[in-house]
Amino acid sequence: MSQTNRDDPRWRAVDQYLAGLLVPHDEALSATLNANAKAGLPAIDVTPLQGKLLHILARAIGASKILEIGTLGGYSTIWLARALPQEGKVITLEADPGHVAVARSNIERAGLADRIELRQGGAADALPQLLAEGRGPFDMIFIDADKVSNAEYLQWALRLSRPGTLIIVDNVVRGGAVTDPGSKDADVQGTRKFFDALAAEPRVCASAIQMVSGKGHDGFAIAVVN
Ligand code: SAH
Ligand code: DHB
Ligand code: MG
Repeated sequence: MSQTNRDDPRWRAVDQYLAGLLVPHDEALSATLNANAKAGLPAIDVTPLQGKLLHILARAIGASKILEIGTLGGYSTIWLARALPQEGKVITLEADPGHVAVARSNIERAGLADRIELRQGGAADALPQLLAEGRGPFDMIFIDADKVSNAEYLQWALRLSRPGTLIIVDNVVRGGAVTDPGSKDADVQGTRKFFDALAAEPRVCASAIQMVSGKGHDGFAIAVVN
């Protein structure tokens, strides 16, 4: 978070301008954000424009099996699930039982219960479980949970991938703090460790993009498996 220009009014204004034009009001998504707020979940969902970007990427690659690590209230999950064909599936992992309960109700309200498999539990247990069940390979993997584990999640993502799998990681810029090697923030150190692993990983072709938005200054890492 550090000295980010989190409150630069232009970022929010541009998000509102663009989303106003490109992301029309949607009952299920609005109800999801309202239910999240009512239940006291932190408002750290992807933004509407980012959610739609994830949806577009999933559609562009014709994804039918998507893995998400970090559900929160299911806002990003709903965007991803709506990109799927009828028989497609999003498996989404969430450690917090309170978040799971809210997400389940949001997903049901959105009419997507048949396309979303929400698993309660820590990703460190759930990921080996998915591998053991032979649930991969996934077409797209969205990593958006605890940032300290991102280097490990990358390794699990690779085990659950095939050539062409798209891997996206949220929150990799942290208000610019990612450039500080001496940062005392565990999320920043976790992100730097993730980037070292990504840079050294011959199995992927990777990039990253910093973004400003209504949520401040942050970014996505994006990789395709070779
Ligand atoms: N993808 C969501 C936001 C996720 S916020 C969206 O954009 O709408 C991050 C979530 O990861 C939180 O709900 C948190 O409880 C969950 N989380 C944190 N550590 C986790 C872990 N080890 N395993 C699974 N989920 C975890
Ligand atoms: C924050 C934002 C996120 O998108 C997330 O997944 C976790 C934390 C944050 O701004 O603190
Ligand atoms: Mg995030």
